[in-house]
Amino acid sequence: MNEKKQNVVLTGFMGTGKTTVGRFLAAELGYALVDTDKLIAQRAGKPIHLIFKEDGEAVFRDWEAQLAAELTRQKQLVIATGGGMLVSERNAEIMQEAADIFCLTASPREILSRVQLSGNRPLLDTPKPLERIKELLAEREAAYGRFTQIKTSLKKPQRIAKEIVKALQKSEK
Ligand code: S3P
Repeated sequence: MNEKKQNVVLTGFMGTGKTTVGRFLAAELGYALVDTDKLIAQRAGKPIHLIFKEDGEAVFRDWEAQLAAELTRQKQLVIATGGGMLVSERNAEIMQEAADIFCLTASPREILSRVQLSGNRPLLDTPKPLERIKELLAEREAAYGRFTQIKTSLKKPQRIAKEIVKALQKSEK
């Protein structure tokens, strides 16, 4: 029997539903949900796009590194990461020690339609966002590929959360 890690991390590209699925998953497991983007924005006192604009991406990535270390010292959390957080090998290593990690996936077109609905993605603030999504997905393929993949296409978030619960139960056997 595998040792229970007592935290679950949801990672994956922007617009794959990490926070929405995380909310259902946290309810299923009786864990608390932490959304790293939300926490960083709270602590920085400004939204993510302003952190990127005024302080630069490197400062945002420092916030993420700090949270990777801090959150994994806690237990019973579902952590919905920003899409770039576990692209960092160091963050991935730290979080893997203390959490089961799942990577949510979706097609570039689905991602585009989802992020267009919610906006506020500085990395996709370009005249050709679909091309940029494809480029970033290709750049991040190996990094995301380190984790268990969960397809989100045409699935309701509740169903995805249940699928993850099942995968967790299986890994504990
Ligand atoms: C980013 C994803 C965003 C946010 C920031 C950078 C990325 O989070 O952290 O804009 O590098 O993929 P979401 O995945 O929640 O959109």
